Amino acid sequence: MASGELSREEALECVGCRHACHIMLYADTEEKLFGKTPVRHVVLMQMRFDGLLGFPGGLVDPSVETLEEGLSRELWEELGFTLSVTPKDYLTSCLTPSSTPQLATHFYARKMDEQEIREVERAAATTATDHGHEVMGMVRAPLYTLKGGGGLPYFLSHSFIGNSRSQLEDALVRFGLVTPEELREALTLAEQRRL
Ligand code: GTP
Ligand code: MN
Ligand code: MN
Ligand code: MN
Ligand code: MN
Ligand code: MN
Repeated sequence: MASGELSREEALECVGCRHACHIMLYADTEEKLFGKTPVRHVVLMQMRFDGLLGFPGGLVDPSVETLEEGLSRELWEELGFTLSVTPKDYLTSCLTPSSTPQLATHFYARKMDEQEIREVERAAATTATDHGHEVMGMVRAPLYTLKGGGGLPYFLSHSFIGNSRSQLEDALVRFGLVTPEELREALTLAEQRRL
């Protein structure tokens, strides 16, 4: 277990905790960059209002909605897309003790068709109520590594909200979207870029 990780039940028992749910939407793709480099997968993140990268989702109040209902509501606000999240989409929960009150973050993932992902992107940029203020736009994470560190290494060297970067890294390996070796190499290059 990663540091701060706890079960969903433990998190929901936390007295005075706030809760936030976010989701990684992804798909397989046959796209090739410059007709050459396989893109392999579409992984959606968003540019937030504060300039940080994160996943779609947000604060949920378990006293009035389930985690999944709250996440579905946030996705409607941020993506303009109806997506009924279920407990099957749930991955992990994590406690962030540094924030007051404490924040429990719950992470989900859903595999979609490439066509559905395109519909999400279209809705997020047009009809989503939060577009242009809470959410500045959806972005696809590049998963390939080009000569010199372009692609995943540069992407990982941006600034991310909370623990969303480790949520991304864990999910990429968990679903086999990149190999552990590819991730390790990308992180090494990202680290060099920060220096
Ligand atoms: P408001 O509607 O303005 O309240 O925002 P929101 O409900 O959409 O909340 P937001 O998505 O900003 O998430 C709430 C809190 O969870 C943030 O203040 C961050 O601390 C944290 N957070 C935001 N995005 C992510 C993410 O992708 N992963 C994780 N682990 N935490 C996140
Ligand atoms: Mn193309
Ligand atoms: Mn929101
Ligand atoms: Mn949000
Ligand atoms: Mn909200
Ligand atoms: Mn809001």
